[in-house]
Amino acid sequence: MLEDAFGRKFYYLRLSITDVCNFRCNYCLPDGYQCDHDRDFMSLAEITRLARGFAQLGTEKIRITGGEPALRKDLPEIIQACKNTTGIKHVAMTSNGFNLQQKAGDWIDAGLDSLNISIDSLDPRQFKAITGKDKLDEILAGIDTCISSGLTNLKINTVLMREFNNHELKQFFDFVRKTPVTIRFIELMQTGSNVDFYNAQHVSGQTIENALLEKGWHLTKRPKTAGPALEYQHADYAGKIGLIRPYSKDFCSTCNRLRVSALGKLHLCLFADQGLSIRDHLNDDNPQGLQSAIKAMLTEKNPTHYLQQGNTGATKQLSMLGG
Ligand code: GTP
Ligand code: 5AD
Ligand code: SF4
Repeated sequence: MLEDAFGRKFYYLRLSITDVCNFRCNYCLPDGYQCDHDRDFMSLAEITRLARGFAQLGTEKIRITGGEPALRKDLPEIIQACKNTTGIKHVAMTSNGFNLQQKAGDWIDAGLDSLNISIDSLDPRQFKAITGKDKLDEILAGIDTCISSGLTNLKINTVLMREFNNHELKQFFDFVRKTPVTIRFIELMQTGSNVDFYNAQHVSGQTIENALLEKGWHLTKRPKTAGPALEYQHADYAGKIGLIRPYSKDFCSTCNRLRVSALGKLHLCLFADQGLSIRDHLNDDNPQGLQSAIKAMLTEKNPTHYLQQGNTGATKQLSMLGG
């Protein structure tokens, strides 16, 4: 079992398989940012060994992230490799949903258990202003396809921004009234690339939390492999509302996840100073070296992200590490 110096246990691996993205969300990728498509990302064989090594250390859930993971042609094989790993009970993915309608069936057939999709506005024009892509209607149709294909547990990620979507909360609540998905409002985080944007757009999720409690929403139980969201339900709503509040007190005390970048570096925190290479341990079939390296590195994990103190760490933008 992986445990750090603060008694936190790590059941959940966030595995980035590419840092390339085909969207340009204003809070994430800076204007004019060019992705480098020729980087030497971990191969399917390396990912298979990585998943096995983590599973033997107690990891039960793998979330595949990017950049945009669906840009990798071998995505179904990667899902299948994670799913076939002894000890892995849940394979999830986070995507921008650009080809959801066409691809969801392949992902489900490969063994995907759950899917989170970013939707920062339910207004097509505003969606384009945020992401650079005129794709909202297609993505919403993809969500319908997923629901009718039996992929339960769909979640939508919405980053809260003062001028771009904070006036749309009613539309999001109306959506959840009828649709069996969870919408999670995420407090915008400061990164090395978005300082001015963060200063202009960050809003706290506290107002939403107060409104949920006032209007009779109930907090649901958070399992040991859950992500950081506090999720609420209400008898009148088909879906749920979640809040991810990295600026709230004690956010990191329930940290249960580690990250590996597409280049095979272990990141102890989204905002750690650097990634620690474990790739040399993925070349052979001996899992001992990999496991000892991960355990040794984990002793260095900090108690918190220090975001409140202005730390942004080595992750210039969250696309480098899949959030
Ligand atoms: P579930 O497993 O479904 O609960 O999802 P998740 O919230 O773990 O995964 P998802 O990829 O949907 O994460 C949504 C967003 O939450 C990320 O893009 C980040 O913005 C934020 N987030 C997730 N984990 C962390 C974390 O450990 N620290 C911080 N600061 N933010 C996180
Ligand atoms: N703050 C909060 N969330 C972010 N994401 C990316 N950048 C940020 C940021 N600065 C998350 C969002 C988005 C996913 C791809 O990454 O959840 O939906
Ligand atoms: Fe864990 Fe770092 Fe996220 Fe805090 S910010 S919950 S320590 S990964």
